[in-house]
Amino acid sequence: MTTLTVLPSGKTYDVATGTSIMKALLAAGETIAQKCGGNASCGSCHIFVTEGRKSISRIQKQENDKLDTLVGVGSKSRLACQAVLGDEPVTVELLTFV
Ligand code: FES
Repeated sequence: MTTLTVLPSGKTYDVATGTSIMKALLAAGETIAQKCGGNASCGSCHIFVTEGRKSISRIQKQENDKLDTLVGVGSKSRLACQAVLGDEPVTVELLTFV
């Protein structure tokens, strides 16, 4: 079990380790776009991971390739559908410009 904090609301949720950030957000009732259904091909679920980045799953090629095509990508960028939570608390920032 770990903790997921969502910005800008600041709400915190208990989430099972091994859950994707996308699934955790949807289960919590947060709004996040998922146009491709979680296949790392649309980029609509782009978020910033502001804390706990080392605890979540590493970026794979497909996610990296998609991030390269998006506007506003930075070192904290992840696709929520591809990032899987580990044991450490994680804070994510939901974005509105995608
Ligand atoms: S839902 Fe399409 S890339 Fe994540």
